Amino acid sequence: MKVTVFGIGYVGLVQAAVLAEVGHDVVCVDVDQNKVDNLKKGIIPIYEPGLTPLVTSNYEGGRVDFTTDAQRGVEHGELIFIAVGTPPDEDGSADLKYVLAVATTIATHMQNHKIIINKSTVPVGTADKVKGKVTETLAELGKSTTFDVVSNPEFLKEGAAVNDCMRPDRIVLGTDSEKAEKKLRELYAPFNRNHDKVITMDIRSAELTKYAANCMLATKISFMNEMANLAEHFGADIENVRRGIGSDPRIGYQFIYPGCGYGGSCFPKDVQALIRSANQVGYEAKILESVEAVNYSQKEKLFEYIMSHFDGDVAGKTVALWGLSFKPNTDDMREASSRVLMELLWEKGATVQAFDPEAMEETQRIYGSRADLKLTGTKEAALDGADFLVVCTEWQSFRAPDFDLIKEKLSLPLIFDGRNLYDPKTMSEYGLHYYAIGRGLSIKGQKL
Ligand code: UDX
Repeated sequence: MKVTVFGIGYVGLVQAAVLAEVGHDVVCVDVDQNKVDNLKKGIIPIYEPGLTPLVTSNYEGGRVDFTTDAQRGVEHGELIFIAVGTPPDEDGSADLKYVLAVATTIATHMQNHKIIINKSTVPVGTADKVKGKVTETLAELGKSTTFDVVSNPEFLKEGAAVNDCMRPDRIVLGTDSEKAEKKLRELYAPFNRNHDKVITMDIRSAELTKYAANCMLATKISFMNEMANLAEHFGADIENVRRGIGSDPRIGYQFIYPGCGYGGSCFPKDVQALIRSANQVGYEAKILESVEAVNYSQKEKLFEYIMSHFDGDVAGKTVALWGLSFKPNTDDMREASSRVLMELLWEKGATVQAFDPEAMEETQRIYGSRADLKLTGTKEAALDGADFLVVCTEWQSFRAPDFDLIKEKLSLPLIFDGRNLYDPKTMSEYGLHYYAIGRGLSIKGQKL
């Protein structure tokens, strides 16, 4: 089938590559000429396992192409995805200007029936706005072309996006048109491996499904972080509690890992956007407000532990920091806990000596060159001349380090672990002072 994807960001590019891989004929449109040129040369703008070979082989095979020519894009696709960004505006609401600009572009160039599919995460009611925009533009141009608007939210995780897209748990389709539904079922047929993954519903429910899914996951995390903080006060170990409650299948083991807060491009933005949308209809989303507040303070947790350990004075200290990205297997630093920590440490006059397997360039891009930030080539080099170690991201390569080497290199035998990677008993056997999240070790006066 002929498909066009507007917006070669994270969602658009992965979706386009995967649709091309299963044999569809895909054209991607973006306003960024540089991005388009790079993609044609096999330079992928984001780090995502498996994406580069997928894009390159499908480009070389002629199944996916990249262009800035919107007219060509609109003429090409009978199915047109909108996958442009919806950045938060000043008050945290999703800004729809890019989505609506694409709607106008589609209406301007369309000459026959089009199915317009909203893939961007957008507030409930956006499909109606897209419909309105297309109708208005067609009327202005005196065209009577017909179209459908479908909501088809994505649920992919960074670091696992290709796999999530190739093997989706579910494909949510919000539509009021049987014809559009039939076409989309045809489009997604290659992904229905063992059973039908398609769940159809009305458009508004599909739009809310996306927010409900992310907000539910964010709620699980903030809830666990609250339990971790309580465990800290009670002298209990949240890791035992986690195993204890996860064994109940109604609760489950996933997304109940306590830590130094959630980040990324989705959870913080979506929780905030749903709070704002709720406010706009006169509803106060109390649970979501708490989820956000708990996460906000959780990102400062490691800093609190550090301040408490050093009685508020870290001026002149060098902090080894392992992990900069908001989670492993990505170079994405958006809303990363490491940023909150680094910025607080800098305010107090400390120097950060950091290593991340993927996010070094991104860190450099965000913070530029500054005397109190040193980026090192290996995790071991980050320890050189450092006073203590902080872990912010649970990269696989941080899980079983050489603790003797850590102790030898640091001037103080001290680790602050924001992801609970290590066993407190083992740490004390190595003679390392160990702070973790919710393990009853971090209240002042309870230092190992
Ligand atoms: C998320 C959703 O998982 C995905 O379905 C949606 O489409 C987009 O948003 P992503 O932002 O890529 O995906 O990352 P995810 O793996 O969900 O992690 C988000 C954050 O939560 C990370 O900072 C992670 O460290 C944190 N997290 C996750 C926890 O702190 N504890 C957990 O138990 C799980």
